[in-house]
Amino acid sequence: MDYDVIVAGSGIAGLSFALKVAQAGYRTCIVTKKGRDESNTNYAQGGIASVTSESDDFERHIEDTLNAGAGLCDISVVREVISDGPSRIREIMELGVEFSRLEDGRMSLGKEGGHSKRRILHVEDMTGKAIENAYLDAINAHENIEIKEHLVAIDLITLRKIKKFGYTTNEIDDRVVGLYAYDENENQVITLRAKSVMLATGGIGYVYQYTTNPSIATGDGIAMAYRAGVDIKNMEFIQFHPTALFSTTGERFLVSEAVRGEGAILRDHRGRAFMKDYHPLKDLAPRDVVARAIDSVMKKTGEQHCWLDCSKIDPDTFKSRFPNILAACEKQGIYPPKDRIPVVPAAHYLCGGISTNLSAETSLHGLYACGEVSYTGLHGGNRLASNSLLEAVVMAHRGADSVIQYLDENHLSKVEVPEWVDGNVQDSDERVVLAHSLDELKRALWDYVGIVRTTKRLERARTRIQNLAREINDYYWNFKLETPLIELRNMIQVAELVVECALQRRESRGLHYILDYPSEMPNSHTTIVKRG
Ligand code: FAD
Ligand code: SIN
Repeated sequence: MDYDVIVAGSGIAGLSFALKVAQAGYRTCIVTKKGRDESNTNYAQGGIASVTSESDDFERHIEDTLNAGAGLCDISVVREVISDGPSRIREIMELGVEFSRLEDGRMSLGKEGGHSKRRILHVEDMTGKAIENAYLDAINAHENIEIKEHLVAIDLITLRKIKKFGYTTNEIDDRVVGLYAYDENENQVITLRAKSVMLATGGIGYVYQYTTNPSIATGDGIAMAYRAGVDIKNMEFIQFHPTALFSTTGERFLVSEAVRGEGAILRDHRGRAFMKDYHPLKDLAPRDVVARAIDSVMKKTGEQHCWLDCSKIDPDTFKSRFPNILAACEKQGIYPPKDRIPVVPAAHYLCGGISTNLSAETSLHGLYACGEVSYTGLHGGNRLASNSLLEAVVMAHRGADSVIQYLDENHLSKVEVPEWVDGNVQDSDERVVLAHSLDELKRALWDYVGIVRTTKRLERARTRIQNLAREINDYYWNFKLETPLIELRNMIQVAELVVECALQRRESRGLHYILDYPSEMPNSHTTIVKRG
């Protein structure tokens, strides 16, 4: 199967990128591992940050992003991404997304932690779903795009890799020529050839025991890129969202920061509003500060959660602004704003990832990355709320320009790609091994690579993860591939990268808080991991 471009992932990054390259006339295939609308994007609540009001300006948004990023943002990237925002917002609206408006017709702009202005465009509290659906409608109608669902990308195919199988070429540089993917419906691995590949597979939240992310967030794209020798950066910066709805089942439904933006306040079990002890911005401090504060209050009191008091929000406003959150609370017998909501932090977002430049190019020719899977330098040590959807759509646009130029300028020769060879086609003898290993991995990450770290905890995690890696590596090459095995291998891989970066960073900065090194180092840097 030959394409100009393969896109792995159908969230905002993959879909908005694919639409643009297809519109430029290139044959595009999107592979996505579940149904086409399953993604982190689909659950995004608060909205998308961009300067659209006359009382706001780019400099303020830039400053807020830099302040949240704890000194590690790349200022030129911050400037470019934020300035591109309004054009991308216009395109989203042209696709039919109707952002919520005030009664007088002006945009209803939300406020979230770390923002000095109201600037979050939203569709009630279901912004991601509205954007995802609009892109899917446009894509479903486009003749140059094929979407293949339940197809799990396994590994990139590169010239370097296939030379090992005897393929000869005059090309000196390595480049990507396609990918192998597991077809869940046919229960077999297929080979997809392409001149370029865009990785838009999202984040890694599902590696943690408690997360706001759906189960697709297993770090597949990062693991694939790492195995192909691509640079990966800043994996230690895991963002924990301060307020997920506590439940005894372990599920963590997000309670948007926008709820605090409308006046909700965090309280401890005695009813005390504690955020004033931690930051001048109180409940709307940057996320790393609020998550650490809740963690510290929970540890001090020994309670399983804190409370979000929404009583300052008018009940009708709550109902119309947060219908989705209201429904999730009501399912648990909680009726905000009258009742307080029990909240806990949960793993939410990865600030690091596959290193790209402002054209979404990675260190491997023909391979691009955008969205949560990538590291551009926008977020630094801590992402500003609602800058993720913004980054994804801006970088997808830039990536599309750059892929189009790559395809226009390079007359890439066709490469005979070898089919996938199954080393051993036995069915798994004990699938329970996968479930146990997954459970152990998620617990190890939560317990030892969480909001507050120590070198000892990180080393403990490393030992556990290395053991799991050995076990699953044997399993991987001995039994028939299936999705849980592919994902577990990738999750173990990205967990190793998180711990490696965390051990590299000998300072506390932004989301990386380590008791052995409580201060910031004067000359900080990004961490890099690359397979030798
Ligand atoms: P995703 O939307 O996660 O899409 C990844 C896609 O890749 C999926 O389709 C997945 O199935 C597919 N995939 C993964 N692995 C493979 C594979 N091996 N093969 C094939 N396909 C694969 N950000 C904001 O800016 N504002 C918000 O309000 C906001 N709210 C959020 C609320 C929640 C509950 C969560 C979880 C996140 C929120 N975020 C928010 C973060 C934001 O939603 C994500 O960072 C963003 O949507 C990522 O988009 P993406 O396209 O990069 O990845
Ligand atoms: C939220 O609505 O609180 C999530 C926003 C984000 O992750 O940026």
